[in-house]
Amino acid sequence: EKGGYEHFMLKEIFEQPKSIHDTMRGRLLVDEGVIKMAGIWDHVERFKNANRIIIIACGTSWHAGLIGEYLIEEYARIPVEVEYASEFRYRNPIITDKDVVIAISQSGETADTMAALKLAKEKGAFIYGICNVVDSSIARITDAGSYTHAGPEIGVASTKAFTAQLTILTLIAFKLGKHNGNLGNAEFMSLIAELDAIPKRIEEVLNATHEQVQEIAKDFVETTNFLYLGRGYNYPAALEGALKLKEISYIHAEGYPAAEMKHGPIALIDENMPIVIIAPKKGHYDKIVSNVQEIKARKGKIIAVVNKGDRQVSEMSDYVIEIPETSECFSPIVASVPLQLLAYYIAVYRGANVDQPRNLAKSVTVE
Ligand code: F6R
Repeated sequence: EKGGYEHFMLKEIFEQPKSIHDTMRGRLLVDEGVIKMAGIWDHVERFKNANRIIIIACGTSWHAGLIGEYLIEEYARIPVEVEYASEFRYRNPIITDKDVVIAISQSGETADTMAALKLAKEKGAFIYGICNVVDSSIARITDAGSYTHAGPEIGVASTKAFTAQLTILTLIAFKLGKHNGNLGNAEFMSLIAELDAIPKRIEEVLNATHEQVQEIAKDFVETTNFLYLGRGYNYPAALEGALKLKEISYIHAEGYPAAEMKHGPIALIDENMPIVIIAPKKGHYDKIVSNVQEIKARKGKIIAVVNKGDRQVSEMSDYVIEIPETSECFSPIVASVPLQLLAYYIAVYRGANVDQPRNLAKSVTVE
């Protein structure tokens, strides 16, 4: 049941400290300095010797995949491509038995993802699943996998499943990086200690931003368009923030890499355009500052997600949401939480059915 929350979505947003903890349970052994993942370990040579890893997913899971690309390439130095399942399967892709395909799916039933996996399997690729629903179709067809263990997600908009997917991808990247020697022991130890504390960081963010974001949402009930911008790891987080808003509030929203603004979207900016900017200190901060200046000069309304104590971006912003500072690779997990809340409250104030948005189903079993 909803456990005292008005909607499943809000309950699931607030469950994230626990769900992320559950995702790491038995896998992240900080004291021993070990990440235990049987599915990876049993096939570690396949990963290590892979030509490349292809991540296949749809929607929110695809956004998680994009962050997975940044993580695996940075820490394990294995080439990664990320594809929409629906595009991959119809474009005659080049796949060989040297490729590893990772499918990400909360439901484990998404028809396009399933069909893409069948294709990859036929071509001899090793296929790995990151699913939330145990014993789902995708979980059963894969050669190996890791369940996210986020618990049942009832709200149609994916929240805790997304952060659980990011947690698994982080564990995989660190484990592979440690194994193949690209991630040195000292850095590995410090990263896993930080990962272990992420549930606490999320708890802090929920406490610090919940009421504030609720207030901010009130100012945007009548808004018809939104832009979400981020760079690096937070570019996919911007895509995900925009998707959350559009699917439950029916407000048009677009996510963009902040630097792409000047190649088109900047033409949209005037005093009526709210722009959510994810600008933590670690991760191209100076570049983001100049993007914010460009927006400010055109009178865009800036909602900034920044680290505590931030000055430069905050001074130019109309609304400032503070999140704790983390290593760059963890910032999308932390930054996503206030963006989930923002989408949720805007939708609630618009009277939308947040748990069951129009035209959407929890698992998309049609192509
Ligand atoms: C958005 C959302 C969808 C799903 C997509 C894939 O909040 O829930 O975009 O992420 O339909 O679903 P799964 O992960 O079940 O394959």
